[in-house]
Amino acid sequence: MSDFDQVSLDAGGKPVTLPVLKGTLGNPCIDIATLPKQTGCFTYDSGFTATASCKSAVTYIDGDEGVLLYRGYPIDQLAGKSSFLEVAYLLINGELPTAEQMAGFEHEVTHHTMMHEALKNFFTGFRHDAHPMAMLCGSVASLSAFYHDTLDLNDPEQRRMAAVRLIAKMPTLAAAAYRYSIGWPIAYPKNELDYSSRFLHMMFEAPGAQLELNPVVAKALDLLFILHADHEQNASTSTVRLVGSTGANPYACVSAGIAALWGPAHGGANEAVLKMLEEIGTPDNVESAIAKAKDRSSGFRLMGFGHRVYKNFDPRAKIIREMTHKVLEELGVDDPLLEVAMKLEEAALKDDYFVERKLYPNVDFYSGIIYKALKIPTEMFTVMFAIGRTAGWVAHWLEQQVDPEAKIGRPRQIYTGADVRDYVPVDKR
Ligand code: SDX
Repeated sequence: MSDFDQVSLDAGGKPVTLPVLKGTLGNPCIDIATLPKQTGCFTYDSGFTATASCKSAVTYIDGDEGVLLYRGYPIDQLAGKSSFLEVAYLLINGELPTAEQMAGFEHEVTHHTMMHEALKNFFTGFRHDAHPMAMLCGSVASLSAFYHDTLDLNDPEQRRMAAVRLIAKMPTLAAAAYRYSIGWPIAYPKNELDYSSRFLHMMFEAPGAQLELNPVVAKALDLLFILHADHEQNASTSTVRLVGSTGANPYACVSAGIAALWGPAHGGANEAVLKMLEEIGTPDNVESAIAKAKDRSSGFRLMGFGHRVYKNFDPRAKIIREMTHKVLEELGVDDPLLEVAMKLEEAALKDDYFVERKLYPNVDFYSGIIYKALKIPTEMFTVMFAIGRTAGWVAHWLEQQVDPEAKIGRPRQIYTGADVRDYVPVDKR
């Protein structure tokens, strides 16, 4: 990256100089705050493809090199050595916890996993076939109606407690949405279990039965939560920050993040990938699927492929791909969709259309196959993404709350509508 600390441009013959800001890693950024005053111009960048919305120390991605760091730690090291709760602590606090800090954090999260008994009524208001993301979005927003003791955003302890509650209760609400959809009573969290085992128990222990937890499943789930925990200023995290910039409560912010994550271009892609693989059905149909994905008029995209930032392999996809083979083997699951996915990946990575556009598998491409092997229903895949990403959402929200440069988000526009004109009475139209 060339080393310069300002840029100059010519605005209709008027020279304009703008400062360049640099972070610890990554692209320098031109500070355009004085641009309107110096030139009368705004900047235009649909989808914020080249625009930094904030300064952040939480996560760093190098899209060209396929690097992902949580507070400086490479994702493959955290995936191999950490736990989701330890990663959540790291994202929120910026440092790995001591054994004592971890014990305290784990105890606190464990003792905030229950939902208020009245909140259970919220679920019975939904149709049984409501999408679990609808139930999650609604129930998370309603937490602000129950926890008034964490709504004073000027109190750091209340902000911290809201973050703990959201991390603690997300699995409980997620499992409740699933149990309601299959007509089972909502299960209470068991404190003696670890974070991921507790979620599996709330999901799958049938009424009156004793669920035998499989440690392979719990470990795989914990790893998937780590891999989904944060990802810089992605659409849902940017949504949490934009809502947070208005002073809205943290439950409303995270509920907005859940809504943004739901879209198939974002977290909804894992559910869409599995539906796509089922539609393709067999490796013989891979070629026609690739052809359709290359034809813009088809409206069909290869779900789980491509990324706004990664123009190389998504490091999470590499880890999940290896994990998929291991988990299916350990569970003795032989899923024909895995062969379809592998053939699809192989064909796309050799095809000029995908190579020229630097389209690689992303985090969503293989995750659905693992969730399926873990007996997570397809409609719950994006909910799983939300459970992991809650750690990142609250970490960014907490960071924003103490950012001296933070202000209400209010983008500008290029107005393409009608010029000023007078009202015309209806009998003259
Ligand atoms: C996540 O931002 C994050 O960090 C997100 C995430 C996180 O952890 O938070 O990583 C999680 O959201 C992963 C992405 C999940 N989405 C999908 O898998 C859906 C399929 N992918 C695409 O819709 C797309 O790749 C996006 C949305 C992910 C990125 O879109 P961009 O950056 O806006 O790219 P684009 O739409 O401008 O595409 C560039 C070109 C276009 O072709 P041309 O106009 O150059 O001819 O690539 C093509 C696109 O048509 N293209 C695809 C494609 N993705 C892009 N063509 C076929 N299949 C695809 N999947």
